[in-house]
Amino acid sequence: MAKEIRVAISGLGNCAASLIQGVYYYQNAPEDKEIPGLMHVNFGGYHVNSIKFVAAFEVNKLKIGQDLSEAINADPNCTARFFEVPKQGVTVLPGPISDGVASHMIEPFHCYDPKETEPVDLVEALHAAKADMLVNYLPVGSHEGAKTYAQAALDAGIAYVNCIPEFIASDATWSKKFEDAGIPVAGDDIKSQVGATIVHRTLADLLVKRGVKLEETYQLNIGGNTDFLNMTEEARLISKRISKTKAVTSLVPYEVPVRIGPSDYVEFLGDKKICYIHMKGRKFGDQPITLNVKLSVEDSPNSAGVVIDAVRAVKLALDRKIGGALLGISSYSFKHPPIQVPDSEAYLWVEDFIQGKRER
Ligand SMILES: NC(=O)c1ccc[n+]([C@@H]2O[C@H](COP(=O)([O-])OP(=O)(O)OC[C@H]3O[C@@H](n4cnc5c(N)ncnc54)[C@H](O)[C@@H]3O)[C@@H](O)[C@H]2O)c1
Repeated sequence: MAKEIRVAISGLGNCAASLIQGVYYYQNAPEDKEIPGLMHVNFGGYHVNSIKFVAAFEVNKLKIGQDLSEAINADPNCTARFFEVPKQGVTVLPGPISDGVASHMIEPFHCYDPKETEPVDLVEALHAAKADMLVNYLPVGSHEGAKTYAQAALDAGIAYVNCIPEFIASDATWSKKFEDAGIPVAGDDIKSQVGATIVHRTLADLLVKRGVKLEETYQLNIGGNTDFLNMTEEARLISKRISKTKAVTSLVPYEVPVRIGPSDYVEFLGDKKICYIHMKGRKFGDQPITLNVKLSVEDSPNSAGVVIDAVRAVKLALDRKIGGALLGISSYSFKHPPIQVPDSEAYLWVEDFIQGKRER
């Protein structure tokens, strides 16, 4: 029988929709050809088609009770539809609302009324689905929600992949819980294939390595999906700003004035994200250098391939009975990993991990 990776999802928004479509889009991908956005078609013995979606938790009334294949197209999801996902036979379940829904998001998310709907027991549902891992895609600012789902994964004895900017894999107390339980965890805050973070990191690394003294930098991001609408509440952004800022400043060996983060919601952009990166510094002879970059991408598919690799790395760790934070895949695929290293080094760590030369 083909090897399966049984994946549960919390938060069936645009990122989850892109991930699920992507897994079907590449179902029959030949192993000798490259797929843009994946490290390998065959990742340590797992093909993209090894991934099966076995459970999903939501708070959106239009998604709960639907088959996964229909729920990913329900409002307010607005990402590109690039593949018609076949019926999954998996019904979306009501999850605990916790702090996943800010007051200004109750309507856009079509959040259920807690007086009318009872959330399922997450641990029971994960057991019933025989899930190997839970991939967390809750909205930014879900401080308690990320923990609620992490604890459910621990209690169900399954791995946790934290795609959001709340600190679980990179938090010593939480990663220890996973280590003690002998369960792998990867995170935090997924780093897109070619997104604002990796472009900004690469440019920062370039300027520093070429001896430019960086004097100021900012990264402004706008978009029109619910991720951006949610992030108009500055109070929900604390860890998002830390995650995105540290991803860049960790590569600059001195203090630099910096401002990085989501900057505005522009409804008509839909799932398109626009990023402006500005960098100013001094080079030889104290002469000025200024770099301005505009990046425009379809936001949600940008992280889906990265998650497909992360899921397969986590399954390898499960097979090898490795518990705790996975350092290689977390550094390569996430903005706020337990250890920040240049992306080229993280890539080699993952290659070594796949070949069994690195434990984690
Ligand atoms: N490239 C990317 O798009 C990217 C990159 C890095 C991080 N992320 C992060 O991934 C997360 C998901 O992004 P998205 O674009 O899919 O957002 P989204 O707004 O499209 O989806 C979030 C989903 O979570 C659901 N939800 C809210 N509270 C919930 C709860 N308590 N239980 C279950 N479901 C709940 C909402 O109904 C919604 O469907 C965000 O935190 C985002 O910042 C995305």
